[in-house]
Amino acid sequence: MSDTPKDVVTVSLEGTDKTATLPLLHGTMGPPVADIRKLYADMGVFTFDPGYGGTAACASKITYIDGDEGILLHRGYPIDQLAEESSFLEVAYLLLNGELPTAAEAAEFHKGVTHHTMVHEQLRNFFQGFRRDAHPMAVMCGVVGALSAFYHDSLDITNHDHRNISAFRLIAKLPTIAAWAHKYSIGQPFMYPRNDLSYAANFLYMMNAVPAEPYEVNPVLARAMDRILILHADHEQNASTSTVRLAGSTGANPFACIAAGIASLWGPAHGGANEAVLKMLAEIGHKDNIPEFIAKVKDKSSHIRLMGFGHRVYRNYDPRAKIMQQTCHEVLDELGIKDEPMLDLALELEHIATTDPYFVERKLYPNVDFYSGIILKAMGIPTSMFTVLFAVARTAGWISQWQEMIEDPANRIGRPRQIYTGAPLRDYVPIDKRG
Ligand code: ACO
Repeated sequence: MSDTPKDVVTVSLEGTDKTATLPLLHGTMGPPVADIRKLYADMGVFTFDPGYGGTAACASKITYIDGDEGILLHRGYPIDQLAEESSFLEVAYLLLNGELPTAAEAAEFHKGVTHHTMVHEQLRNFFQGFRRDAHPMAVMCGVVGALSAFYHDSLDITNHDHRNISAFRLIAKLPTIAAWAHKYSIGQPFMYPRNDLSYAANFLYMMNAVPAEPYEVNPVLARAMDRILILHADHEQNASTSTVRLAGSTGANPFACIAAGIASLWGPAHGGANEAVLKMLAEIGHKDNIPEFIAKVKDKSSHIRLMGFGHRVYRNYDPRAKIMQQTCHEVLDELGIKDEPMLDLALELEHIATTDPYFVERKLYPNVDFYSGIILKAMGIPTSMFTVLFAVARTAGWISQWQEMIEDPANRIGRPRQIYTGAPLRDYVPIDKRG
């Protein structure tokens, strides 16, 4: 990040002699950023940006998005190259450490993660406290938050080793907790992790195996799962990552921060969208019903949105959606699923939405969640687990962003201001005098 004395924005308050000179900061890529930190002190003026569409809340070296061009880079590497050539654990290493690992570093990292995949045995009891029909995201919020009650030895956020071990624990234990949330909901025994399997294969094993039967993980499905995890690993300062950073800015422990991120991810406008896409496709039911559904989407009074379309940052095709579409076909081929009505419906919707002026004018393209739901359904993952899977993947990004924030000397508690629009100062009225 750099600025030069001439690189400034000057703001003046009309009708007064107040002016402020704001330094213009430049990242490695992306638009220049006016540093407004002194605006209030110099001029007595706040800035207003609900939804933070034009506000950089931090400086970060982890992920870069160019929404107009449809570009997504992790530590400089394009997402399509990572999805094609890397693995989820390698991407997690990259996000955390800034560079791709050497063979020795990769082996060490893999060993570190696999040695933390088991959870404290007492944590099993937590699951019994939930109703069997609890949404697995509710279980995730509770159980991940509870990790801080079990791992007291890694809660000192000022200690580098503590932060490191917490990162390993979170990345390693999330699949175990997620799979157990699923097993609990269907009344099957919990499967303990198998450290001889890859991260993705172990997750599929814990989700699908039962003690009474041998279970072979299909390598094509394990690869598809790994790719889904890569595509969801990080995405700059989205709602859940900003939630993790905001919670972390107070000094809260990493387990509590990640639980906050999970809660934020749950919403249908964010991570809950892949679940919502399948519900929407089921509701549409048949291609013939698409025009009627699209008409409802365009009618603002219906408050219905085309789920899996649109993105706050991308005003172009989400680069992750392209890879998802390809993975979707690979999975359906492997499973011998032909003429899948959901996929036909999805392709038709995509065609309409990319040609209809309503969507074209608003630059609403398919996002990552549009295809992931179809893939996961074909793989036999229940709909209620879709967002859980997203949380497993995003934990790598969340903990990397949290680490970066804690290590940044400029880190301050996150504390936005507001435009107050309530009642002005007035005196309390006793109840017998209120009309
Ligand atoms: N269907 C129909 N219209 C839409 C959609 C949609 N999915 N998304 C945006 N619009 C319309 C809005 O109604 C608005 O129209 P207007 O200008 O006539 O008022 C215009 O497009 C701009 O929309 P905003 O609400 O300003 O877009 P915003 O950036 O705030 O929202 C969001 C982004 C939340 C992702 C939105 O596109 C949406 O709700 N999409 C569906 C849910 C979804 O798929 N979420 C997943 C996001 S990706 C992720 O989290 C991994």
